[in-house]
Amino acid sequence: MYSIVVVLSLAVRIAHAAEPGLPRATSEAHVLQRRATSISVNLGTTFQEMDGFGVSEAFGRATNIFSATASAQTAALDLIFSPTAGAGLTILRNRIGNGNTSADSILPTSPGSPSATPNYQYDNNDSSQLWLSQKAIGYGVKTFYADAWGAPYFMKTNGAVGGGGSLCGVSGASCASGDWKQAYANFLVSYVQYYNKNNITITHLGFLNEPEYAASYSSMLSSGTQAADFIKVLYPTLQSAGLGNQVKITCCDSEGWNNQKTMTAQLISAGVESQVGVITSHSYTTSPDVAINTTRNVWMTEYADLNGSWNTNWYSNGAMGEGLYWAKLIYNGIVNARLSAYVYWEGAETDVTTDSCLISISGSTATPSARLWALAQWSRYVRPGATRVATTSGSSALLTSAFKNPDGTVSIQVINTASAAQDVSVSVSGGTFGAVTAFVSQQSNGGKPTATAASISGAVVTGSAPGSVCLLATSSYITRSS
Ligand SMILES: *[C@@H]1O[C@H](CO)[C@@H](O)[C@H](O)[C@H]1NC(C)=O
Ligand SMILES: *[C@@H]1O[C@H](CO)[C@@H](O)[C@H](O)[C@H]1NC(C)=O
Ligand SMILES: *[C@@H]1O[C@H](CO)[C@@H](O)[C@H](O)[C@H]1NC(C)=O
Ligand SMILES: *[C@@H]1O[C@H](CO)[C@@H](O)[C@H](O)[C@H]1NC(C)=O
Ligand SMILES: *[C@@H]1O[C@H](CO)[C@@H](O)[C@H](O)[C@H]1NC(C)=O
Repeated sequence: MYSIVVVLSLAVRIAHAAEPGLPRATSEAHVLQRRATSISVNLGTTFQEMDGFGVSEAFGRATNIFSATASAQTAALDLIFSPTAGAGLTILRNRIGNGNTSADSILPTSPGSPSATPNYQYDNNDSSQLWLSQKAIGYGVKTFYADAWGAPYFMKTNGAVGGGGSLCGVSGASCASGDWKQAYANFLVSYVQYYNKNNITITHLGFLNEPEYAASYSSMLSSGTQAADFIKVLYPTLQSAGLGNQVKITCCDSEGWNNQKTMTAQLISAGVESQVGVITSHSYTTSPDVAINTTRNVWMTEYADLNGSWNTNWYSNGAMGEGLYWAKLIYNGIVNARLSAYVYWEGAETDVTTDSCLISISGSTATPSARLWALAQWSRYVRPGATRVATTSGSSALLTSAFKNPDGTVSIQVINTASAAQDVSVSVSGGTFGAVTAFVSQQSNGGKPTATAASISGAVVTGSAPGSVCLLATSSYITRSS
């Protein structure tokens, strides 16, 4: 039960002039009227590196944005990718189609055998994902995660796009047509090269989606051991195509955290952990709550409520469609499961009826949900390459995270899960600060981070969470003590 409404996010900007338009720190007398809860941030105790935050526009959603009116299209793109007008997301997860039409696959027809020359077809559209990727680059996005939901149907044991099936040639999966592992690796490399020709650098490449679930749509079953069989082929294929330094292999986009733990252990047993760039999991069956035992960065690559109706509340009754619900999920994943990236399912869609996407396009408008703004409390202020640092909270009702950004700024999030207002006093060890800027997400602003008062003295930031606070702090300079 949570009856509050506040994310308190403090970002302290170091060695930069205060940004124009952001209020300078002020002393707020009312801050002193309640006993402030102490929070500490230790810049010297570091955890995972952050790779970013993102969405997908797979299954026609990129075309939803492309086909929108000019004003709705611009608004939707800004909400997704702009760090000032929107969430500033930096990861786009594209689907590598494995269907039986040229609109949904670069290889819709079987060449006949694994060794026959494939007739790749590039429609220069890729369900509008090429267009969207180019738009994303315009906003500075550099992380493109291309993920196949499975191999082309003729490479799988069941010979169909849907219904699961396994990749012919991995352990326990033999086919009369032969071993298609190398052909699938070549197919994926061809897709990466297709994007390279369009000046889009795919940085992460996946070959599975929810491999424990035989969905009626694009799907393919795999254990971690079977995935390792394929990685042993894909890795050298990327190397010999000259893509070894460009593309990191991901695995395995499980439906949930528990299965991804099992699959990761199987990858390690099979000796391929060092060939995997990033361990990836969804959150549908179990959510990330503890760290997976791996040396690789770990991403949450897909989650949404697939069931509720469209919802723009920050906090009303605790429903899954509300912003605060997602703030707590993202907090738990980053702090307790050490996620380096959080990738929501779909970003913007038209004809929205459910709360599964972040932005609803209708006519000339694009309407953000508070779920987008929950993500924004991290994605705007925690930039790729940031390092998570230690925090402690003097109250179990205040959930905290903090990060050092590559540009020297520090960003601190405080989620107030209590119904009462909370004043906070944040002590940051490792520096003193010149200025602070705070932003609050709450029901009255639809969750959109909005500037609020905070003050700073040396290394102590003080702010007020009036029953709902989210502070973000910006400082004009810092003197580091270490
Ligand atoms: C193509 O794939 C779809 C499923 O995506 C399936 O319904 C259809 O029967 C397939 N068509 C052919 C000709 O295989
Ligand atoms: C891609 O193809 C689809 C289907 O033909 C079309 O609706 C869409 O407008 C195309 N996208 C682009 C960017 O041209
Ligand atoms: C890719 O970049 C090159 C070099 O700037 C340019 O000549 C080419 O037209 C670009 N291709 C596309 C598809 O944008
Ligand atoms: C984590 O994995 C390493 C090998 O990669 C192993 O030595 C260690 O025992 C594992 N730890 C746990 C808690 O499973
Ligand atoms: C969808 O919501 C209904 C009613 O709110 C609930 O009974 C059902 O279990 C939910 N389904 C899923 C898959 O969450």
